[in-house]
Amino acid sequence: MLLLKCCHSLTRCGLVSTQRHKVAPAVVSCALRLCSSSSTEDLGLSQRTNWKHILAGLLAGTGAVLACGLHHHKAEQADVRVSTCPVFSHDEVTKHRTLEDGVWVTYKGSVYDITEFVAMHPGGNKILLAAGGALEPFWALYAVHNQEHVLEILSQYKVGELSEEDQKKQRVAEQTDPFASDPERHPVLHVNTHKPFNGEPPPEILSDSYITPSTFFFKRNHLPVPQVDPASYRLQVEGLPGGVLTLSLEDLKTKFPKHTITAALQCAGNRRRDMNKVKVVQGLNWGIAAIGNAKWSGARLRDVLLAAGFGPDVAQWARHVHFEGLDKDVTGTAYGSSIPLSKAVGEEGDVLLAYEMNDEEIPRDHGFPVRVVVPGVVGARNVKWLGRIVVSAEESDSHWQQRDYKGFSPGADWDHVDFKSSPAIQELPIQSAITVPADGAVIDRSDETLTVMGYAWSGGGREVVRVDVSLDGGKTWQVAELRSGEKGQAPEPPPPPGRAWAWKLWEITAPLPPEAQELEITCKAVDSSYNVQPDTVPPIWNLRGLLSNAWHRVKVRVTDD
Ligand code: MTE
Repeated sequence: MLLLKCCHSLTRCGLVSTQRHKVAPAVVSCALRLCSSSSTEDLGLSQRTNWKHILAGLLAGTGAVLACGLHHHKAEQADVRVSTCPVFSHDEVTKHRTLEDGVWVTYKGSVYDITEFVAMHPGGNKILLAAGGALEPFWALYAVHNQEHVLEILSQYKVGELSEEDQKKQRVAEQTDPFASDPERHPVLHVNTHKPFNGEPPPEILSDSYITPSTFFFKRNHLPVPQVDPASYRLQVEGLPGGVLTLSLEDLKTKFPKHTITAALQCAGNRRRDMNKVKVVQGLNWGIAAIGNAKWSGARLRDVLLAAGFGPDVAQWARHVHFEGLDKDVTGTAYGSSIPLSKAVGEEGDVLLAYEMNDEEIPRDHGFPVRVVVPGVVGARNVKWLGRIVVSAEESDSHWQQRDYKGFSPGADWDHVDFKSSPAIQELPIQSAITVPADGAVIDRSDETLTVMGYAWSGGGREVVRVDVSLDGGKTWQVAELRSGEKGQAPEPPPPPGRAWAWKLWEITAPLPPEAQELEITCKAVDSSYNVQPDTVPPIWNLRGLLSNAWHRVKVRVTDD
């Protein structure tokens, strides 16, 4: 009872882990369990998995960082009761920032020793970002992970209380919401997470227009949206012989030719929901609308790199171009990623430093005032609020390049996944999905025909050449009509080979099969390299739920009313 009072969050028997590093005896006694015998086997598998994933997300924004390698030690047998819980000052906590000194964090007035967690996680450098300080700023940034059961699991690491005085100071700091200045979003968007904001439009909106209006374009943010003053905005271009080139927004608009492309942008997690249905994956539960097609205008990256000193000498050693956003986490780490040099400087790469989206300045959610648009390449490399470009011999060492947005075998699990073994996703595979009718829709038999609509796109500039649609789950197929422009208007001119950056909308009106009670509508697209979507999810399932591009299927009911 005394122990429960002192360490009020130790609410469950058997949840306390015992390995502590260089912790004072009093601390250890606080953390010891009330029950005489327990083991971590008491933890359900899903709870262990959640802990791994959620704390990872809590600290890194994605969950991938700490997701492997958390192994709880068998708890020792003990029957120890203590009467007091140690009180630590903030200064004392800050001394525990390394594995050698122990890794401590605080949360809502309690002090936790998570050394064991970090020690067991190979390469878990992200968790060390919170070491010696408060978890609250991370919770605030990754609010999606602020869930009760995470706290319950965290409680096993409790070693004491933070002094009242330091708690007061923390409460004051907590009152600042880093998302307070985020822009308003249209209420029609299906929200995946509010903070950071991640939302997608209802699928049928996608097939309403060839160019997706910016308001309805999916929004994928890892961090708060930065407030950037266009007048003082500066873009730094680094790594080239001429030194650092600094450009204002005005420079980008006036010193380089304006180039316009229509390009689809797709998140690597689009259609993750379909993978989740097969087996739970980690990540935002995107439906089919984490994709959009927009008109982008800006300076060519190639032109800017040439102006900054890129030339044949640089091409001898440089291999990658890094991008860094102005959105930063609490440690000051910016969102970042990189693309191969060949894509960045190639005449046919069409990579833009875009300052317009759909003929207007880029909205804040989409990267105001400048974002890089890397057509044909996964959304993650299209860095928003672009602050820095670096030409380099190496890939970006950003978390999002090295420890996220990679594909794995269906057999890889979080205990064994090796992020170094897979390349960072760049060009995306062939994709298509049905936007109309919706799954579960009811069709009136007296209509006699059924109209099915959707989108199709492939990465790497490969043009969609055909979309096949089936009303019987894939037994028989019909070819849909493709569209490269707004309905009733002239289509966009055909793209040069290998530079088909835009999506195609498709539509088919087919007779309703007589007497059918239920239809399984299915679509699959084919690109100019004759790549075609896989028929089912299991062979492409992966623990992060990325690259989900199996045939899309919706079921509808046919009624006689
Ligand atoms: N750039 C910055 N600076 N910060 C981010 O969080 N998210 C990336 C990319 N660029 C991101 C970013 C991801 S994962 C995707 S899918 C796209 O932006 C989404 O772009 P959108 O929000 O304009 O649709």
